Amino acid sequence: MTDTITTDRRAERRDTPERRTHPRDVFVEFQGVHKSYGVKDVLRGVDLKVYRGEVLVILGGSGSGKSVTLRHILGLEAPDEGRVLIEEEDITDLPEEELYRVRKKFGMLFQSGALFDSMTVFENIAFPLREHTDMSDEEVGRAVVEKLELVDLPGTEHLMPVDLSGGMRKRVGLARSIVLNPKMILYDEPTTGLDPITAQKINELIIDLQSKLNVTSIVVTHDIQSAFSVGDRIAFLNQGVFEWTGTMEAARDTDHPQLREFLKSSAVVAAQPTRQ
Ligand SMILES: Nc1ncnc2c1ncn2[C@@H]1O[C@H](COP(=O)(O)OP(=O)(O)OP(=O)(O)O)[C@@H](O)[C@H]1O
Ligand SMILES: [Mg+2]
Repeated sequence: MTDTITTDRRAERRDTPERRTHPRDVFVEFQGVHKSYGVKDVLRGVDLKVYRGEVLVILGGSGSGKSVTLRHILGLEAPDEGRVLIEEEDITDLPEEELYRVRKKFGMLFQSGALFDSMTVFENIAFPLREHTDMSDEEVGRAVVEKLELVDLPGTEHLMPVDLSGGMRKRVGLARSIVLNPKMILYDEPTTGLDPITAQKINELIIDLQSKLNVTSIVVTHDIQSAFSVGDRIAFLNQGVFEWTGTMEAARDTDHPQLREFLKSSAVVAAQPTRQ
């Protein structure tokens, strides 16, 4: 199976002496987080650390609580029990106006894409700037152009979402989620529903943004190929907790039965040629 998984292009970055010798700075921390909806216990004592500068991939079955986990990071959900810390600040009981400040640290690429269909690409990306900053029209224009270049869609300002392919929509969504210069990007299933070549372009973009923007990222995905292309570490959500967390290398050799099953079930997909 190992051989079928994409070449790990980020391996050398992970293994720098610097990484090994410096204590790691924690950006996001969950301490014993519980969350239920009615009788359904979704998170059952989640502990998690996301280190500054890394790409953490969250894997887990449908309905396991991956999106719910992201919503807790943004303070869109509060735990029933336990704590959520962002850059060492406990945000668990913060009032809404304080959470607003915390949310500015994050860019979120939503699972659904969520572009405004009645607005041009330009207006979609400009929207957060108009809502949250007092930038002039000229500054907004410059920021939009810059972000469109970063996601490799220069010159598409005038297009409407209906004119865009699935991959382009994701990239416009991504441009919008980074327009306020977040410290951390949360990607909820960024490659789901895309063909393998387009998915690979999104993977490359995630890696590219990681270094260009100097951010920390979480990528929620079902796409094992994507996980191995972009991730530094995997956290496997199963039965309401992160049952296994470790490096991509360690994941390949794991003896955790469900994680093995999860990785194996996607090996066929990973074996398909996706590039060249
Ligand atoms: N606001 C809510 N009210 C009631 N139930 C909810 C709510 N949000 C999430 N759930 C339930 O919590 C569980 C986890 O949902 P979540 O969206 O986090 O799953 P997921 O791991 O992201 O799944 P998928 O891979 O399908 O996106 C699901 O059973 C879902 O129905
Ligand atoms: Mg989800």
